[in-house]
Amino acid sequence: MQIVRSKEELRDILAQWRDQDEHVALVPTMGNLHQGHVSLVELAREHAERVVVSVYVNPTQFGPGEDFADYPRTLERDTRRLKQVGADLLFVPTDDTVYPFGHDCATVVSVPGLTENFCGAVRPGHFDGVTTVVARLFALVQPEVAVFGQKDFQQQLVIRYMTEDLSLPIRIITASTVREPDGLAMSSRNAYLSEDERAVAPRLSEVLTSIGQALQDGKQDFAALEADGRDALESSGFRLDYLEIRRAENLAPPDRDCDELVVLAAVHLGKARLIDNVVVTV
Ligand code: PAJ
Repeated sequence: MQIVRSKEELRDILAQWRDQDEHVALVPTMGNLHQGHVSLVELAREHAERVVVSVYVNPTQFGPGEDFADYPRTLERDTRRLKQVGADLLFVPTDDTVYPFGHDCATVVSVPGLTENFCGAVRPGHFDGVTTVVARLFALVQPEVAVFGQKDFQQQLVIRYMTEDLSLPIRIITASTVREPDGLAMSSRNAYLSEDERAVAPRLSEVLTSIGQALQDGKQDFAALEADGRDALESSGFRLDYLEIRRAENLAPPDRDCDELVVLAAVHLGKARLIDNVVVTV
């Protein structure tokens, strides 16, 4: 596996691959890789001859007071893991590579509408940071395919929208959420949980799954299902950012004849902010 930090090195390798008619799949990450990230790499491998994984803790998607400084940086372990799963190239760009004119003078890519609610409302500017860095990574790596996780449901939708709106010739693939055996969605931020909080955390996916089941069973009183879910989470000790039932296609409020719904939630438990979702076809 090649490890590359600069645009120039990256371009040389990409040119060699293109000469051999090889396609490239990109898996953007912020590192501290777990099985969820590994599943993205494995899926990427099914869609292209070459897999590039980027590790970059993007400062512009963290708000003031968020965990940018504390975000776990474990490059050595990540490198070993990526070699094991057979990634071809690990791209660890420097700040200058991603933001050559610095953050204050950076071109910003912003998707309105879809980013107004949910994580976008609670974390102002977060999605501008995400779309800006992903657009930059797309421009640097020029992949045919890029893989994102369903765990960050709003994020993958926003990136799909951006890609289509800018006519970028990149196929976006969404990978299923990888969970711990007790149902907790894997996340770098699970490391912030104390032992007691870790024992409570799986309740989040339990509550979302039971709402998903009720929807699948034909229940259509969305407001009551949301209210019960919020109560269940609060009484387990979570502080809620949101819990909503929406149309999976565009996060609009559901009506009675839509066929794909998503139950989305973001909660705080101790120091950790956890997000999860369940998609149901009704
Ligand atoms: P990060 O949190 O490192 O996640 C990288 C990718 O892994 C994202 O597409 C995310 O949805 C996916 N992922 C995380 N946990 C997962 C799980 N349990 N199962 C499946 N996939 C999972 O998301 C980001 O980084 C950043 O916002 C990024 C897109 C890299 C832009 O900076």
